[in-house]
Amino acid sequence: PAAVIVAIDGPSGTGKSSTSKAVAAQLGLSYLDTGAQYRAITWWMVNNGIDLTDPTAIAAVAGKAEILSGTDPAAPTITVDGTDVAGPIRTGEVTSKVSAVSAVPEVRARITELQRSIAASAAADGVGMVVEGRDIGTTVLPDADLKIFLTASPEARAARRSGELKGADVKATQEALIKRDAADSSRKTSPLAKAGDAVEVDTTDLTLQQVIECVVTLVEEKR
Ligand code: C5P
Repeated sequence: PAAVIVAIDGPSGTGKSSTSKAVAAQLGLSYLDTGAQYRAITWWMVNNGIDLTDPTAIAAVAGKAEILSGTDPAAPTITVDGTDVAGPIRTGEVTSKVSAVSAVPEVRARITELQRSIAASAAADGVGMVVEGRDIGTTVLPDADLKIFLTASPEARAARRSGELKGADVKATQEALIKRDAADSSRKTSPLAKAGDAVEVDTTDLTLQQVIECVVTLVEEKR
């Protein structure tokens, strides 16, 4: 199909976002960052003083924030109740709290519905979309035309996330990453997992450019 829908899942630090944006831009597809949506709802909850140790409190306000995602891969945007939160959702505070919020079934149901409607309009418009996340191939879009699961060694993932940092910082980053992935992989409701029909790409020894080329080739085979 021309309006191809591509699901790209995997843990943090595998180059998922960079790859997804570049592939979408190169092939003229729209792009949806589902992690940004979970970060946005987490940001709203932090801002509104919700007790994030209490899943019942989180569930009670799961539908309160209006989250809008801009789907241009060259300039993706995210707003909560009209406020641009692209910067604030990347803070250490939101990053450390997002797994607790995204584990709550009411939050997932609400965000999943949003994601399905965004992907459905991209398909209806004939544009097609790259959707990146943790459960896109398994749960959100089980009928996606192509499913990719990106992996990389914990060392490679931590090194990419920490960039120029050295020694203790890499170690701390690695520990935080491993903790978040463990939480995302072990939650009851649609955990991070590879779909049975996903193509696994181990990016440990690949450059970003090589990963992009690999995924572009796989998408072109589906068009
Ligand atoms: O991709 P990113 O690191 O921005 O995702 C932030 C968090 O959002 C993840 O750690 C996970 O808890 C949650 N998430 C999710 N399902 C998705 C995408 C992200 O639970 N499809």
